[in-house]
Amino acid sequence: MRITLALILSIIVAVGLVAFGFTFYQISIERTRLLKDLDMETRHVSDQIYQDDPLFFDKLDRSNIDHIADSLRIRYNLTGIAVYYGNDSILTNKQNSELGSYSLKYIPGATAAGTSFSSVINISGRKIFQLIEPVNKREKSINAVVFYADTKFIESSIRRIWFRNFIRWFIQAFLVSIVTILIIRWGIFNQMTKIVMWAKALRTGNTEQLAQKSPLKFLDPLHKEIEHIAKAMREAKATAEEEARLRTSAEAIWTPERLKVEVEILLEDKKMIVVSNREPYMHIHDGKEVRCIVPASGMITAMEPILKACSGLWIASGTGDADRETVDKNDKVQVPPEEPRYTLKRLWLTKEEEDHFYYGFSNEGLWPLCHIAHTRPVFRIDDWNQYKKVNENFAAVVLKETADVEQPFILIQDFHFALLPELIKKEKPNARVAIFWHIPWPNPESFGICPWQREILQGMLGADLIGFHTQYHCNHFLETVSGALESRVIWENFSVKMGGQTTLVKPFPISIAFTLKDYDIRSKKIKPTELLADYGLRAQYLGIGVDRIDYTKGILEKFLSIERFLEKNPSSVGKFTFVQIGAPSRTHLKSYADMVTAVENEANRINLRFKAKNWKAILLLKRHHSHKEIEPFYSSADFCMVTSLHDGMNLVAKEFIAARSRNDGVLILSRFAGASGELQGAIIINPYDIEKSADAIKLALEMSAEEQSERMKQMRLIVVRNNIYSWAADLLRTMATFNH
Ligand code: F6P
Repeated sequence: MRITLALILSIIVAVGLVAFGFTFYQISIERTRLLKDLDMETRHVSDQIYQDDPLFFDKLDRSNIDHIADSLRIRYNLTGIAVYYGNDSILTNKQNSELGSYSLKYIPGATAAGTSFSSVINISGRKIFQLIEPVNKREKSINAVVFYADTKFIESSIRRIWFRNFIRWFIQAFLVSIVTILIIRWGIFNQMTKIVMWAKALRTGNTEQLAQKSPLKFLDPLHKEIEHIAKAMREAKATAEEEARLRTSAEAIWTPERLKVEVEILLEDKKMIVVSNREPYMHIHDGKEVRCIVPASGMITAMEPILKACSGLWIASGTGDADRETVDKNDKVQVPPEEPRYTLKRLWLTKEEEDHFYYGFSNEGLWPLCHIAHTRPVFRIDDWNQYKKVNENFAAVVLKETADVEQPFILIQDFHFALLPELIKKEKPNARVAIFWHIPWPNPESFGICPWQREILQGMLGADLIGFHTQYHCNHFLETVSGALESRVIWENFSVKMGGQTTLVKPFPISIAFTLKDYDIRSKKIKPTELLADYGLRAQYLGIGVDRIDYTKGILEKFLSIERFLEKNPSSVGKFTFVQIGAPSRTHLKSYADMVTAVENEANRINLRFKAKNWKAILLLKRHHSHKEIEPFYSSADFCMVTSLHDGMNLVAKEFIAARSRNDGVLILSRFAGASGELQGAIIINPYDIEKSADAIKLALEMSAEEQSERMKQMRLIVVRNNIYSWAADLLRTMATFNH
């Protein structure tokens, strides 16, 4: 209010000063003009009198001057007249007798110069105009005649000007003040209130208030700026909160270093042995060179970082064509090749063993048996016999490698070695044995079709611990045991007692090597066209899929949903490309070879159907890709699509999330993958429902940046908190609790 008052007073003073200045100027001009008029009129009167009667002044004397002055006042509005005879003798009419003496000092000058002279004389506050006319040509001794006129009318005219200008100044000041008050109130105070409201909304995060714009256009840039600040503040706050959350839980987040220490405490001098069929490093011939590659396998993605962190021995089948050349005399090689951290011991399978154990019983029997993907399992006695034999071979090697260790920790991986726990335990009861089943466990009815289900269950129950990805798989396993074996299933703690052995059955959702350090690495976002440049293609949006070419992965269903998406959204033709990285796998099996052909044919068919220059709907990259090659697609694609028809966990989903350091991108995830239980921020789909999967693609491409970020942050937090190091620690801690 004070500001308004001060402003109004300033306006009044300023307008007043201007009005005063102008009035003063106007008055001085008016005064000069009126005096000039008076002067001219008086001269005119003088001339008129002379013209009317040239002897008028000669007739003047004491007897008639009063009479003449009266007639002049009446005729010409003159106040009086005086006649000067020289020698300071002056005759005036009676009413103005004192005027003459005032004029005396001017007359000699005028008569001497011979020109008329006019001025205003001040007589006791009364201003009188005098015009002195020298008349020396007269016969009488009259030297000059003085005419007097009252200037009262000039003063009243000046007063009128003052008065009018004062009223004008008052009205102007009043109006300007009113307008100023209105401008201040509506134009400034109201807008200031709005700005204060924005600032408050900025502080409190009230986005609704912040969205209220001002009708005044000139505030638009400020509003926009405040909105930017709000957005930046929201992002900074979210980041800070996220960092704080991470920091609070930093101690709970596992790192390779922490796992190493934990393993040293848990194992003391005991040995850790990992057994799997697939080896973590495979040496292959590439021309004349020998190349070392990491096979496409979720099990390896998960287990390799653990061995790297804690050392130990990994026993696996040597399947690379240069594997034999790279091992020592004990069939061992130190890996990773560039920075050895642990020992890989290779076992050599004969062709027969590989055909029956690996391709036969493992991949044509157990694999389709455990995955409900509508591919019929095949059970052959020869496959089963070789399966038993290879399990025995591996058991022998494990026992040999642990001969001098009292209580080794043996971590058996996957469905290839269901019999191994019992075989090891029979010979080495003190060994702590765990088997982790990387694939789903079906319902008891489904598993029950396996002719050797009892042997498999019995073999597995030799372990102290059986791990699955989900509780759901554990329950299926326990139900299967309960229906198939003479055993006691203790549902209270999810364990099985059989003979003298107790086996704990527990979920351990597997993960990837994603730590806080990786969390902070900001990856570069590459434009789709740049990513596709090597293939001569262009696109504005990218989807990515990374799978082994396997009938359980739903690749054909994925392609159908892409086709349906393009059908429903023709504007995306020429703009959206789906990159499917597909690693051929188990191609000796007809079902897998057929799947490769089917995937290729389907991609070609869809690509032929939708055509645009330098563009493809589906880019199928059918070969093994290293993680380094996949990484740019993971970190830059608009979405990743995982369409497993049935899957244990699916680590591709987690790898994609780990790569999204900018918290953007969308994960479309099959509800039949174990990961869907943890990654709630994904768009969860049923891959058999092509229509809904197509809509999920649209949803992913149109999802706002805010929603993407919210979902992605939540999933990244889950993955970093439940990384592979925490998985291993949990598993090993559980193993360490068993009393032998
Ligand atoms: O999911 C089971 C699994 O063993 C995974 O570890 C891996 O992704 C896949 O199968 C690899 O199969 P293979 O070793 O037969 O290529």
